Amino acid sequence: MNLCGSRWSSAWRETGFQVAVLSREGGRLEKLKEFLSGSACDRLHTLVGDVGSEDGAEAAKRALLKEVGKVTDVVSSLGFSWWQGGPPLAQSLTELHRVLDTLLLSTFTAWKAFFPLVKDNPDGSYTFITGGAGERLLMPGTGFLTLGAAGALAFSLMVREEYPDVPCKLNELKINMGVTTPERLGPGYVSHLEVGEAVASLVEKRIVSHTVLSANSPADLKTLALEGKI
Ligand SMILES: NC(=O)c1ccc[n+]([C@@H]2O[C@H](COP(=O)([O-])OP(=O)(O)OC[C@H]3O[C@@H](n4cnc5c(N)ncnc54)[C@H](OP(=O)(O)O)[C@@H]3O)[C@@H](O)[C@H]2O)c1
Repeated sequence: MNLCGSRWSSAWRETGFQVAVLSREGGRLEKLKEFLSGSACDRLHTLVGDVGSEDGAEAAKRALLKEVGKVTDVVSSLGFSWWQGGPPLAQSLTELHRVLDTLLLSTFTAWKAFFPLVKDNPDGSYTFITGGAGERLLMPGTGFLTLGAAGALAFSLMVREEYPDVPCKLNELKINMGVTTPERLGPGYVSHLEVGEAVASLVEKRIVSHTVLSANSPADLKTLALEGKI
């Protein structure tokens, strides 16, 4: 199950997985169904839900289990693509709450609801998608993005270290590049389709666990797609 992040989901058509995608907006899920054609749609389940609170995440979990019965794999790709609201002295606490809610706190509430479904399954997995924004300021005015993304990196680290012995595959794919559509590709960017293939392979091949897979180039993603590790 791909818990969140419809941009990665098209690559799952190459696998035999049943895939569920969650979004707060039904319109986005309709667009995804239009984008995926034919038989891939037979294995796609779409759910409208908000995992940004404990109650919302539990409701999403119940709806998902009702729809698919069993969940084996979770990909947590929560957040937003970009934030550049300006320097910190110009920001409010409300805005910081909003950024942390989206990048960090929803990662926790979703994990709290969904990790128990897969953690004891040796054929299961939980994968966090993170980015290099948590390690440096990408450009002036993106400081809150760094704070939120750093929180997501730390959250993933914390889970790996607090649960060293879980039999499920517990991994993080850290993408140290921008992600965009094939039409908009430029230097420093990678296609969301390539990212999707890499994530699908990581989940399907189940070669590594408790590992951070750092993708620094499209070649790294290709290696991951082919070999299930970098
Ligand atoms: N974009 C990049 O260039 C890039 C590069 C490197 C790494 N990353 C990493 O990729 C991860 C995801 O970012 P992204 O760029 O893919 O962002 P995105 O395109 O905005 O996708 C984020 C997803 O999270 C979902 N979401 C957020 N809060 C939610 C909530 N409370 N309930 C349900 N769904 C929720 C959104 O669904 P709805 O909005 O449809 O509800 C959306 O599908 C982040 O960790 C980021 O650091 C991104």
